[in-house]
Amino acid sequence: MTQPLLFTPIQLAGLTARNRIVVSPMCQYSSEEGGPTDWHLVHLGKFALGGAAVVFCEETAVEMRARKTYGCAGIYSDAHVPMYRRITEFIYKHNSIPAMQIGHSGRKASCGPPWTNFKPLTDEDAKTGHAPWRGVSPSAIRARDDAQVPHELSVSDIKEVIASWREATLRTLNAGFEMIEIHGAHGYLIHQFLSPLANKRTDGYGGDLAGRMRFALELTEAVRAVWPKEKPLWFRVSAVDGDNGAWNIDDTVTLVRELKARGVDAVSCSSGGINGPLNYAIVPRQPGFQVPYAERVRRDTGITTCAVGLITEAEHAEDILQRGKADLIAMAREFMYNPNWPVHAAKKLGVTDYLDLLPTEYAWWLKRREKIREISK
Ligand SMILES: Cc1cc2nc3c(=O)[nH]c(=O)nc-3n(C[C@H](O)[C@H](O)[C@H](O)COP(=O)(O)O)c2cc1C
Repeated sequence: MTQPLLFTPIQLAGLTARNRIVVSPMCQYSSEEGGPTDWHLVHLGKFALGGAAVVFCEETAVEMRARKTYGCAGIYSDAHVPMYRRITEFIYKHNSIPAMQIGHSGRKASCGPPWTNFKPLTDEDAKTGHAPWRGVSPSAIRARDDAQVPHELSVSDIKEVIASWREATLRTLNAGFEMIEIHGAHGYLIHQFLSPLANKRTDGYGGDLAGRMRFALELTEAVRAVWPKEKPLWFRVSAVDGDNGAWNIDDTVTLVRELKARGVDAVSCSSGGINGPLNYAIVPRQPGFQVPYAERVRRDTGITTCAVGLITEAEHAEDILQRGKADLIAMAREFMYNPNWPVHAAKKLGVTDYLDLLPTEYAWWLKRREKIREISK
């Protein structure tokens, strides 16, 4: 039979991914002073062993104040570089592409982990060494009622923040990453600039769509300028969001056209973030609920897209690709459940050498077991 598309290599700028399966970024809240730990090596390393083509690190802050929580990852110091290198080398050695997602939480900074419902830190937390700090945003509008009012960035502040993305990109390169994604989704700083709900500026970084997109586009130019052409640059969007779609799919298509013109190679299509962390009202949760965004962006802009969101079945993933709705499939939670998902998917889709997705240390034994099973039938 012909090879399923899910297991067909894909060219991404100067790189070839061995299949179309991407491990989506997953914050672990387990970093120490921004640096990754053994947890990250095992967490990310097992996805490379399990056969995914691209393994994304979690959202990684470009500045110390850009973290959401004290446990969030960062790449704002040169000291972080060797810590990540250990991880990238492991992923690379096992035939996967080590990918970094850089981000800035903006006004969503200074809170507790998800299991506190991201409760904003207070002076009470200072007693346990977790003093609150002030987030930044295009406008002095808080992320939620119990959060601090963020510092409204001046134009010179904006230039400094953009410079921190550039610095973080250079560190990402030095750390051995082969791919980088700008996190422009989920209500974080870039998305705060894009959204008319969070951006009420009256200068050149606010107002109409062009003004609200300016921060994202200047920042993308700064990243692309130092990120080598042959290494793919991705951008993650919240394709729709806000109070009844204040940011909508047409805005996203306009944004992606501009991003593509600035050298972005692929777009990962997510949703939500400004009007609540999970915008159930606009985007009902069902398998593949965000696939239509990846499809529309791909069709209207011709850019490579990655579909994500409640895709868990091999046949579903293959169908999305076969119908031309996206070029790649990303998954997050399913990988926590089953880090060897690609192997199981390959078997389901009839790939005969599915065990070769695993390293020899595993594949040799498992193939032998299959042979013994065959013989004893
Ligand atoms: C624990 C966890 C952490 C996440 N952290 C990030 C992140 O750092 N960056 C990001 O863009 N998305 C993040 N997401 C969203 C996922 O990348 C993904 O888009 C979402 O979970 C939907 O995919 P799924 O249904 O396959 O889990 C996170 C999701 C989970 C479950």
